Amino acid sequence: PEASLIEIKDFLIELAKEAGEIIKSKSGKEKFDDKKNSVDLVTAIDKAVEELVSQKCTSKFPTYKFIGEESYVEGETKLSDDPTFIVDPIDGTTNFIHNFPYSCISLGFTINKKPTVGVIYNPHLDLLFHAIKGKGAYLNENRLPNLSESPISLQSSIVALESGSDRDGIIFENKLQTFHNLLHKDKGYIHGFRSFGSAAMNIAHVATGQVDAYWEGGCQSWDVAAGWVILEEVGGIVVSGNKGDWDIPVDSRVYLFVRGAKREDQKKFVEEFWSNVHGR
Ligand code: IPD
Repeated sequence: PEASLIEIKDFLIELAKEAGEIIKSKSGKEKFDDKKNSVDLVTAIDKAVEELVSQKCTSKFPTYKFIGEESYVEGETKLSDDPTFIVDPIDGTTNFIHNFPYSCISLGFTINKKPTVGVIYNPHLDLLFHAIKGKGAYLNENRLPNLSESPISLQSSIVALESGSDRDGIIFENKLQTFHNLLHKDKGYIHGFRSFGSAAMNIAHVATGQVDAYWEGGCQSWDVAAGWVILEEVGGIVVSGNKGDWDIPVDSRVYLFVRGAKREDQKKFVEEFWSNVHGR
């Protein structure tokens, strides 16, 4: 792109801080509306923050594309090879509504559809995660350690899992069965699961190594684009949440994020994880 990646990262950090002020000050104080159902929620602040971010991105970088959760039109909005901002104004809207301090803004930037710059800011806990492809990942001012030499195994892992907002049908039943498999003594038998209610925060915790993996079907590119590059910069990987696909596009909807670890351990982790995924 014409602008340097550092310039873009600095711009996104400033924007995340500005939006973060709004998110923090309005958390727990907003009325909400349903989107596709009564557990898929939106508030006026989601829309206002997206408007602010989109206006600033498109006026500073008029030749770049913009995709945002609240302005996305199913079947119409398409990710292209052009430099593109991919934005979730409030990730963890349900947390935001309940004032549970795990909502954040997720600002991704792709080139040739590859996550290249990522900024995630949780203003409640003042956690600012950021990365540029090839330049390492940071939590606030501190570089996150690359975990490529550490061991990992499914049986001693904590895995982030989310119910998502599709709560019926076969896909939901398969999801619950997968949770069951992961926890069961005779199957995955992981140490435990966590559910932070924000895809971006889940990925950020995988990047720090506090959580070993995060599995979700039903996310969108704006939930994962920023976290993706942050995770890759510390040796983590993103593969399909369904069996078999090691190389997936950013908008593939079904993901498994695994923290940095020794290559062969990571591979074994993914294969064992997939063997617990029900239904495909
Ligand atoms: C949602 C959250 C949630 C995840 C959903 C996402 P939103 O994003 O990240 O944790 O389970 O799949 O859609 O709606 O709060 O921006």
